[in-house]
Amino acid sequence: MTVTITHEGAIAVVTVDNPPVNALSQALRQALAEAVSAIDADASASAAVLICAGRTFIAGADVSEFGKPPLPPHLPDVVAGIEGAGKPWVAAIHGSALGGGLEVALGCAYRVAASANLGLPEVKLGLIPGAGGTVRLPRLIGASAAVDLVTGGGSIDARKAAALGLVDTVVEGDLASAAIAFARKIADKPRPQPISERNVPAVEDGFWEHAEKAVAARAKREIAPLRALACVRRACEADFAAAMAFERETFLDLRGSGQAAALRHVFFAERAAPRPPELAGVVPRAIRSAAVVGGGTMGAGIAAALRDAGLPVVLVERDEAAVERGLANVSQIFEGSAKRGRISPAVAAERMAGVVGTDDYGLLADTDLVIEAVFEDLAVKRAVFAKLSEVCRPDAVLATNTSYLDPDEIGEGLAQPERFLGLHFFSPAHVMKLLEIVPTGTTAPEVLAAGFALARLLGKIPVRAGICDGFIGNRILKITRAQAERLLLSGATPAAVDAAMRVFGLPMGPFEAQDLGGLDIAAFQRKAARERGETPFAPIADRLCAMERFGQKSNGGWYDYRPGERTPQPSDVVEAVVGEEAAGRPQKTWDEASIVDAIVLPMVNEATLILDEGVAVRAADIDLVKIHGYGFPRWRGGPMHYAQARGLADVVAVLDRLAASGLAAPPCAALRRAAEDGGFTLLDR
Ligand code: NAI
Repeated sequence: MTVTITHEGAIAVVTVDNPPVNALSQALRQALAEAVSAIDADASASAAVLICAGRTFIAGADVSEFGKPPLPPHLPDVVAGIEGAGKPWVAAIHGSALGGGLEVALGCAYRVAASANLGLPEVKLGLIPGAGGTVRLPRLIGASAAVDLVTGGGSIDARKAAALGLVDTVVEGDLASAAIAFARKIADKPRPQPISERNVPAVEDGFWEHAEKAVAARAKREIAPLRALACVRRACEADFAAAMAFERETFLDLRGSGQAAALRHVFFAERAAPRPPELAGVVPRAIRSAAVVGGGTMGAGIAAALRDAGLPVVLVERDEAAVERGLANVSQIFEGSAKRGRISPAVAAERMAGVVGTDDYGLLADTDLVIEAVFEDLAVKRAVFAKLSEVCRPDAVLATNTSYLDPDEIGEGLAQPERFLGLHFFSPAHVMKLLEIVPTGTTAPEVLAAGFALARLLGKIPVRAGICDGFIGNRILKITRAQAERLLLSGATPAAVDAAMRVFGLPMGPFEAQDLGGLDIAAFQRKAARERGETPFAPIADRLCAMERFGQKSNGGWYDYRPGERTPQPSDVVEAVVGEEAAGRPQKTWDEASIVDAIVLPMVNEATLILDEGVAVRAADIDLVKIHGYGFPRWRGGPMHYAQARGLADVVAVLDRLAASGLAAPPCAALRRAAEDGGFTLLDR
């Protein structure tokens, strides 16, 4: 039974019990509709309380019904049924009232809430609320607050909701008894006007134009937020029935959109990521304390992330001066968070107080997890692990944050090698959501599981990656950069390439990104690759680095920068270098779409190789890497979903054409095969 009705005197208590989150499945919708009729028919009941069992109110739609044809009763009808019931309903909210859950609450005559968050997150899935949320909310809390909630997809707590008039009262203590007492009080009072019958709020002149600009700027190329805004506007300008019809039409249109499909894919990919099938039933090694060796850019960020999650942290550096610098790096992160209002100064101080800086490895004798983030140098890293082998408990988990070195080589000679793995964070490590988890040939399952458990603790998206040069993300990045140079050698400019990729949806193009991060790190990688006998392709970047044009930090890279400024200016120096390197090569005119193809489709090709080699376990994981580590637009679903949605046959055909002109590698056999077989399996679920 998903819904039971009990009686507390004249109050009917409707309890929803649909674990884990009381999602609005077809069965629940049906049961709610029946509860309305049953209570209407019950002469002894004067009011109803709608309350949920478990940890939350109705938290939203049933994800297992996503992308499937909707089954009756439809939610707008259920909500209308509650609103039109013969007895007043009181929603008793705890946990989350999100999406359809909040819409059900809006159908009730009253809302009381304990500790809870309320919101309409549909835009995050490329949708809008489809059961009157965009229509009732402005009638209840005004246009401005409704626009914020509906177009932003964020949630608010019970107190804020009360201040806005979204809930009638906030209760402390037992929610059920408070809600029943509330229902008794209102049972014989005149009922408030149903929200659907209330007047629409007035707005100031220019309100909608202003809102449209603000929402468009935030949404960039996502369509749902602007469509949501149009619905709220219609709700404020039309009668209830017309506004509901407009909302329905918009909802159905968006449900079939490519963006909604992409965002749904990412939603499921993120849900699957923390649970790799190979670790089913494996108990992770417990991590209650952590240490970071190396307090530079990455070490400080990792230490901050560990503290943010509540772990005590020891930060180990080479000598006293380096310890001071490392601690200052961490402190700067917390101060920055406090300045931005993310945490209070007191919390910042408390987090910092939990970081112990030292140059004495002896302090690590009882630490559960040690993450190494020292220079990218095999000998230096091995020396660190030799010391860790001596001082740490034999069951302590030891991890390297290396970007490009082979963890198997770093871990050679380690005592108890089964406790060692790669944990590849992204910069800034306290902000970026991605964590590549890299088992070596000897990593024990419970140690790999500890990596995933750590990701959960830190609020990160874990992706299992196999060992290869650059793991998943940086291996694809290398291809992107090579493609970007190929474009320059055949007639495109850095500004045109960057602009096209921004239009595609990336926050930055490949050249701007290199100038920001610095060209020296990749140059160092290429030097190492040449020493291994490889021939990395970066003719222009090599020459820029030889001129010490490392990017913004040296006032010039792919662009020029005026001292103290970050606005890229086209560079005559770069143009001259490109001209020399391009001499004798065929030139062509590049439009935006062909630039994007020449960058993104080779990315897909490399990703397919990565999948084929087993470096990535699922195609969807590669999408998560690109979205959470490299700014690939979420609403495009990541490169694999993008390619699949576009059609792999077309992807192969374009790659074949690029390859014929020497502008990309030909599509790999696995990609051709996938195109013939009808596509990748993005995610098994
Ligand atoms: P960094 O140069 O900013 O910091 C390295 C720190 O390690 C320095 O503070 C140095 O004093 C310390 N150190 C060196 N030898 C040490 C030793 N024996 N014991 C204790 N501390 C020692 O370098 P960064 O950028 O933080 O990189 C660290 C590691 O993280 C490298 O392996 C790098 O490849 C990797 N990484 C870097 C990313 C980035 O974007 N910078 C991203 C992901 C990984």
